[in-house]
Amino acid sequence: MIETIQNYPLSKDDLVALLSLTGEKEQALFDYSSSLKQKSVGNEVFLRGLIEISNICKKDCYYCGIRKSNNSIHRYSLNHKEVIEIVKQAYENGYGSVAIQSGELSSKSFINKIDTILIESKKITNNRIGITLSCGEQSEETFKRWFESGADRYLLRIETTSEELYRQLHPNDDLHSFSRRVEALESLRKINYQVGTGVMIGLPFQTTEILAKDLLFMKSLDIDMCGMGPYIEHPNTPLYQYREQLLPKDNRFEISLKMIALLRLLMPNINIAATTALQTLKIDGYERGLLAGANVVMPNITPTRYCKDYLLYENKPVSNRESEEQLALFERRIVAIDHKLCLFQQGNPKHYYLRNL
Ligand code: 5AD
Repeated sequence: MIETIQNYPLSKDDLVALLSLTGEKEQALFDYSSSLKQKSVGNEVFLRGLIEISNICKKDCYYCGIRKSNNSIHRYSLNHKEVIEIVKQAYENGYGSVAIQSGELSSKSFINKIDTILIESKKITNNRIGITLSCGEQSEETFKRWFESGADRYLLRIETTSEELYRQLHPNDDLHSFSRRVEALESLRKINYQVGTGVMIGLPFQTTEILAKDLLFMKSLDIDMCGMGPYIEHPNTPLYQYREQLLPKDNRFEISLKMIALLRLLMPNINIAATTALQTLKIDGYERGLLAGANVVMPNITPTRYCKDYLLYENKPVSNRESEEQLALFERRIVAIDHKLCLFQQGNPKHYYLRNL
């Protein structure tokens, strides 16, 4: 096994075999990726305070709880002042970075709103706060405008790299086009964002071979960051009808950890998040993600009264603590696994610096 993982570059078949490891061999993979992480990016954990600014979405993805056709949720949108207040609080408490996430909209008013949030957030923090945007597919012009106004990173998950599976997960129309999504990722790279993507793991109809190809796609795109996690069914979505066909949640969790470990082997210097979906499936999801090779966590700092309406999937945790208390809790958890929490730092991916030398 160790021979396979040292056998760079890992082929698709190697990845398929490694994704099937269990027991001691699986643990050996985690130990290897963990030591490789130590050598390449160290044991520091970067924080991004996640602000879910709106659940209004023009898209209708079959897996997502905030899809346009879900009429059973209350739609909300934080106003400019509310967002800036959260950013200010987060910055004062030690978050060197925030991630602003929302449903996908492309109206002029939405574009302007994000723009002014970026400008103001940088202004009130003397340009010190790092900002990740995760606001869906936009035109290259919009991506450029937001970059110039202060967005440092952009996270746009490809969701799956199998075009066939992509079509099974989305309506077949212009708004949900696989090639547009790939083009959007290419635009982000061209503009020189720190670019992040990711996939859902354990989707209906997904094979291990598709997951192996997902990893190779991320490598070929030369991404700087990745957020990927288990697919978790949501009752008010079309994909819920396939719930009987899904792998048990424990298996989805394990494969997600192996995906993190293998991505660390393929791309030692990038930032990889231990995602909320991982934490949703297991009480020690963040820790297990970090020990498999992740180096970023994204605590949710959206006010609780809104958070409860941003349910992308079943049982998604709701932040219910004051941010100071929440940070202290994170610190204890991270120190307990011999990692170090990085406060007051942007935590940009080493991969991005090396690429821009
Ligand atoms: N399970 C897991 N992740 C989901 N997302 C949306 N719906 C689900 C789900 N049911 C993820 C998608 C999206 C991100 C914001 O949340 O990957 O890009």
